Amino acid sequence: MKNILVTGGTGFIGSHTCVKLIENDYNVIIMDNLSNSKAETVDKIEQITGKRPLFYKADMLDTSAVEKIFQENDIFAVIHFAGLKAVGESVQKPLEYYSNNLTGTLNILSSMKKHGCEKIVFSSSATVYGIDNKAPYTEDMPTSATNPYGYTKVMIEQILHDLTIADADFSVVALRYFNPIGAHKSGLIGEDPNGIPNNLVPYIAQVACGKLDHLRVFGNDYDTPDGTGVRDYIHVSDLASGHIAALKYSECNKGFRPINLGTGKGSSVLEVVKAYEKACGKEIPVEITPRRAGDIATSFADTKLAEEILHWKAEAGIDEMCADSWNFTLKNL
Ligand code: WQD
Repeated sequence: MKNILVTGGTGFIGSHTCVKLIENDYNVIIMDNLSNSKAETVDKIEQITGKRPLFYKADMLDTSAVEKIFQENDIFAVIHFAGLKAVGESVQKPLEYYSNNLTGTLNILSSMKKHGCEKIVFSSSATVYGIDNKAPYTEDMPTSATNPYGYTKVMIEQILHDLTIADADFSVVALRYFNPIGAHKSGLIGEDPNGIPNNLVPYIAQVACGKLDHLRVFGNDYDTPDGTGVRDYIHVSDLASGHIAALKYSECNKGFRPINLGTGKGSSVLEVVKAYEKACGKEIPVEITPRRAGDIATSFADTKLAEEILHWKAEAGIDEMCADSWNFTLKNL
């Protein structure tokens, strides 16, 4: 069986990807520093799949810990999720974001090179499309950012691209996620952020279960059908399947390849609220407030490349995503 190292594997997207990897007969090794996830997620992955991933509690800034993983395991490929990812926090703490995300990634890559591991699937983000491109976003568009978090994704894509030019045997797929939401059907794993959620759907979930009073809608004066922000929400399990497709693609294709993972459809904030009300059977009280700094009106993917070269397409619609999010919320009150 092929050993896949999943950095950040106890996180929201990482844990769902580990489930899909095991279901596709890969052997999973997780490395995570648990700064934004919990060790019991490993138990949940075992409960869902019947197989327990090997788990290293380790920080990618600890080069000897990274080396140890590669010395103890013959790693076939890496799926690299580990990184700090809060946009607002990155503006307050740029050095922490550049150090953690860039140096951490460089440590992973140097151990990969040293041990002859030449395949990596990188967790990138639609945030690299910046504010100058117009949706639907295509992978050939220029990348930019409006915050240090976004710049770490732009810079890591550049590092990976340069690596494939210097070393023709390297295979890199940079998956540009849109807005992952929802949870595994079992309700055992899902989005469980520490503290008050920044993102829309986990915030709505906490309003729905009474932990928070109401949702603040950040602006209803955008140039969109109902004035509220439009995003491409994708079920986290669909996203996880996209990683399996990307891994298979990297097994027979070398070079650097950015690919969008989205549905190609946009939903407004108010449309998501309505879908969540349907899922939970309750009203979600909202307050219209001024726009959030850094937000854009509309973001959604052109999904042609993923369909053509990964033979992958997202399946779940917004109602199913909200129903699965609510199921997870109810099971983890
Ligand atoms: C979605 C919409 C908000 C919260 C961010 C990161 C991106 C990626 C995904 C990592 C927007 C509105 C939100 C709230 C609201 N993360 N909203 N009230 O900003 O599209 O993307 O998460 O890769 O990099 O930027 O997601 O869920 O924060 O916002 O009205 O309490 O919901 O204005 O229109 P976003 P989001």
